[in-house]
Amino acid sequence: MSTRPLVLVTGAGKRLGLAITETLIEAGWDVLALVRTRTPALDTLLTAGGVREIITHDVSDPTLWFSLWPALRTRYGRLPTGFVHAASLFELDTPRSTDWTAIEAHRRVNADTFVAAATAWVQHAQPDERGSFISLVDQKVHRLNPDHYAYTLSKLTLAASIPFLAQTLAPQLRVNGVSPGLTLPSGGQTMAEFEAAQALFPLGGGLAPADIARAVLFLLTQVWITGQMLAVDGGQHLQSDHDIVLR
Ligand SMILES: NC(=O)c1ccc[n+]([C@@H]2O[C@H](COP(=O)([O-])OP(=O)(O)OC[C@H]3O[C@@H](n4cnc5c(N)ncnc54)[C@H](OP(=O)(O)O)[C@@H]3O)[C@@H](O)[C@H]2O)c1
Repeated sequence: MSTRPLVLVTGAGKRLGLAITETLIEAGWDVLALVRTRTPALDTLLTAGGVREIITHDVSDPTLWFSLWPALRTRYGRLPTGFVHAASLFELDTPRSTDWTAIEAHRRVNADTFVAAATAWVQHAQPDERGSFISLVDQKVHRLNPDHYAYTLSKLTLAASIPFLAQTLAPQLRVNGVSPGLTLPSGGQTMAEFEAAQALFPLGGGLAPADIARAVLFLLTQVWITGQMLAVDGGQHLQSDHDIVLR
């Protein structure tokens, strides 16, 4: 039986979730990868040994965490002490084009599943067990802009829940957020558009998935931090319209 600490990462199959998975394995964690779709990169990590298990499930299933945590305790003899929520729904809509279905779907994947995972973890933990939960949020909750209506509403809900969960679930769980800036091309961006957008950050371009992953690792292991939102974004949340005009 492995004595390495156990962490569950959602959205671990690609992009930021995969980078976080790789960084945590290098730092000595065993990763349980929860994905909707398996990827070759994840299968390679499973074969190499850093990923202990690939769990294929939809995170918007309301029963997921209330049955998965006890099942994992049975399988591994303990609950994972780390949880990283990187899965996300990110669809383009506007106040005029959106509907109830889109608003609910974004909220379930981006916010509700994180609240449910933390709540169910505490329900199934022994009094002396301690855990660290981190959700990826988005720098745009610190500097609002009107695009991606349902996505933004769901991330605002998520951001508001983090200090409340940290307060209510202490001391068993520490709960924190990491707010990435634009780190990978998103929403059909070309590489040139992505690089041009990053170049406008106050600190300039170059923010990469490994930078987000290192911040996650820091919050996972720094045992005196809870209820915080850490923007890792080259200062994107400080970017003003004035800056954009000047650059
Ligand atoms: N990338 C950026 O530049 C950036 C910027 C700001 C914030 N963020 C935040 O950082 C996190 C990771 O970003 P990303 O760009 O790597 O995310 P992403 O590509 O938008 O999505 C990550 C994963 O979420 C999974 N997913 C979606 N719905 C799911 C569901 N119902 N059940 C299970 N898995 C589901 C997808 O799996 P499938 O492929 O199987 O569908 C996908 O692989 C997200 O929270 C995002 O909002 C990212």
